[in-house]
Amino acid sequence: MRQARLAREPNASAATVGRSARARTAHHRRRRRHRRRHAQRCDVDGEKVSRRVRVHAQCATRRGARGATAMIRASSLASSDAAADAASMASGARGARGARGGGGGDATNGWDDGSRLAVAPGLDVTTVGFRAMARSLTSHARLWTEMAHHDAVERYKSNTMMRCEGARVTAQLGGSDPSGLARATAVLVDDYGYDEVNLNCGCPSDRVCGKADDAKTFGAALMLDGGARAAECARRMAEACDVGKQVTVKHRLGVRFDKTMTKSEDTDSYDYVVDFVENVREAAGVEHFIVHARSAVLGGLNPCANRRVPPLRYDEVYALCDEFPKCGFTLNGGVTSLEQARELLDRNDGALRGVMMGRAFYKHSCLLADIDRIIFDDDGGGAPRPTRADVVKKFGEFCDGALAAMPPMDHKERKKHCRRYFKVVDGLTFGTRTGGKIFRRAGDEMFDTYFGPDDNEPFSKRLWDCTQAVVDAETWNEELKNINPDGENTYKTSTKRRGSHRDRDSDSDSDDGDDVDGITDAMRNTTL
Ligand SMILES: Cc1cc2nc3c(=O)[nH]c(=O)nc-3n(C[C@H](O)[C@H](O)[C@H](O)COP(=O)(O)O)c2cc1C
Repeated sequence: MRQARLAREPNASAATVGRSARARTAHHRRRRRHRRRHAQRCDVDGEKVSRRVRVHAQCATRRGARGATAMIRASSLASSDAAADAASMASGARGARGARGGGGGDATNGWDDGSRLAVAPGLDVTTVGFRAMARSLTSHARLWTEMAHHDAVERYKSNTMMRCEGARVTAQLGGSDPSGLARATAVLVDDYGYDEVNLNCGCPSDRVCGKADDAKTFGAALMLDGGARAAECARRMAEACDVGKQVTVKHRLGVRFDKTMTKSEDTDSYDYVVDFVENVREAAGVEHFIVHARSAVLGGLNPCANRRVPPLRYDEVYALCDEFPKCGFTLNGGVTSLEQARELLDRNDGALRGVMMGRAFYKHSCLLADIDRIIFDDDGGGAPRPTRADVVKKFGEFCDGALAAMPPMDHKERKKHCRRYFKVVDGLTFGTRTGGKIFRRAGDEMFDTYFGPDDNEPFSKRLWDCTQAVVDAETWNEELKNINPDGENTYKTSTKRRGSHRDRDSDSDSDDGDDVDGITDAMRNTTL
């Protein structure tokens, strides 16, 4: 394994291990060139420089001796007044952002593609049903599919990719074979009509990063070689896309093997992620990076802990925005309310291209109904807001239509689909007086009682009856307004929601991630 090789070659970094001496020299030359460029780009604007100094100082703490040099470099930049060039570059940078319409307060940030607020990919969560429900609540936000391996897509075995809900939906692919990824991208773009395809370079699950064959590892493992393989994959994917469709990359700020987060590691530093972005941008022309603002710990933490233990480093994402003014960066990780998302978008002169939120929406799906108003300044022309009951009714109709359009199936298969649909509605119960636990229990009873071979009742009716039986009418029929977990129309429930797929994140002992971050149903049927 890479770790063992690293131990044998103490002077090698994870990015260079296994490479020939020539390749290593070239790598180091590239890094030096990059650092020089980075230094030139630094701004003389006091505010920005001090933030850069801060970021470098943080990196320095992590990197020890090597970081100290970076800190000295950063501090000397802060005091340098011989940076007329840098100043003009920096204003050019701001100009580039301005030209795309960026700047604080602009409700679209200039990119009218919904990326200002994205609903994060969630395995077994952002299913076709979830996306349909989400789209009924927000017309502006960008939705994401769950990750699917390119093999599953290419063989038309991926249930989650089979339906694209119009524009502003990103399909996420996993894999590390450039040809396979290119073929799957062509299927997604040409056959299903996705306008954006994303390469997952952030999943820390052992199931995707810990494969015996290095060439088959993907997810966060694609960050280990400094981005060389990710760049090649993204390049081939971009070649497979039509004009107007884009390829993006979702990644972490670094990769490490030390779960105690105490040792500094070469693959987990600001410089390292800069190199990664630079490589992918240069080789593949990728312009939009979605950054989960923490590092991935491989081989020590399960995916659930990997979303909690490594600290968030938002500053580094903002520093990347300065570093690559022609690229867009979406910040992801730990954002819990739309107000916080708005604040992050407005921060630093509107530097971010977008904010991505995952667990907040999975757990409390009613939040989706506020996105257009709070993030995109669109109040729907004053139309009345839906109630939870409205959403369920509409969703029931969607489910009936989707089930009818599927190839003939037996009752067991139908029940499996219906269970997945039921899970979607679970997210709406957050904040109701009844709470989710009772709702889920009622759902289990419903599935045990009905759905036999002779059951001809539409799913929408079963779902409706079930919700009416347990959820109190008051919260169910209330207009969805002021929705946030502490909002006035949500009710604190004492029910702890352990064990549900919604809160596996809070369950530190369970390794939710092996069936969370990496493997979809379709992927399970595929030899990876
Ligand atoms: C249940 C669950 C499933 C996830 N599945 C994926 C996935 O398929 N692809 C991916 O890139 N990230 C996946 N993630 C990570 C999220 O997209 C997101 O990066 C992470 O949860 C951090 O954002 P948050 O703090 O807003 O939740 C998943 C997260 C959760 C909780």
